[in-house]
Amino acid sequence: METDRSPDARYTQVAIAFHWILTVLILLNFVFVWVAEDASKETEAQLVGYHMANGMLILLLTVLRIIWRVMNPPPPFEDSLKSWEVALAKVVHAVFYFLMIAIPLVGWIMVSAFSGGHGVGFFGLFEIPGLPMAKSEETAGVLHEVHELFAGLMILLLGLHVAAALKHQFVDRDGTMRRMLSGKS
Ligand code: HEM
Ligand code: HEM
Repeated sequence: METDRSPDARYTQVAIAFHWILTVLILLNFVFVWVAEDASKETEAQLVGYHMANGMLILLLTVLRIIWRVMNPPPPFEDSLKSWEVALAKVVHAVFYFLMIAIPLVGWIMVSAFSGGHGVGFFGLFEIPGLPMAKSEETAGVLHEVHELFAGLMILLLGLHVAAALKHQFVDRDGTMRRMLSGKS
């Protein structure tokens, strides 16, 4: 396959749609649990319900995004990037994909262990089956720690990722941000 090495190399519209839709859904998922912490019992249950349903949607979209990415490789990095920048970006992107799968998957296993295999409601529309697990609050507790730790790592990486995007846009003034904003079809 021919690789697009022109300065105009962009992500495709589908890759861009996946990136921004998932950004919004992931940020929303943090908001749901953070707001839930200070909410009344009833609102808390509702928000955690939204958190789980939205998290399952993130898992599904990420799987589709990765399959799509394998079939449509991203454009090569800008030539002006230093080799350490390329290496760091590759690591951060790979860890992001790992976390976008691992965080919701661990969440799903955690609630399955906590409830002994109960399903996860999807916004009152249908139920996603639970994983066949024996009820164990201990296992659920350990998985909760992992879920929280991975989510914390994601926030750290997001800080780095956004700082890098802003640096490229306003300091280096290169085309990095544009690659993820207006795509080729
Ligand atoms: C990318 C998706 C997700 C992100 C970023 C995420 C992030 C978080 C964060 C930051 C917390 C708070 C940690 C704490 O307790 O201090 C949390 C709690 C939790 N998450 Fe997720 N999560 C995701 C997906 C899921 C999924 C798919 C499920 C289950 C199906 C789930 C179930 C839970 C539960 C049950 C809690 C504990 C809520 C409570 O304390 O009442 N999460 N999650
Ligand atoms: C939770 C939120 C986010 C996640 C998980 C995320 C994840 C990713 C991933 C995995 C890639 C690599 C795409 C690929 O090659 O397949 C990427 C690229 C990119 N992201 Fe994000 N991102 C998030 C939010 C943001 C935000 C808020 C901005 C801007 C302020 C941003 C700007 C960019 C840019 C400019 C690229 C293209 C980099 C390049 O040219 O190689 N991202 N993002």
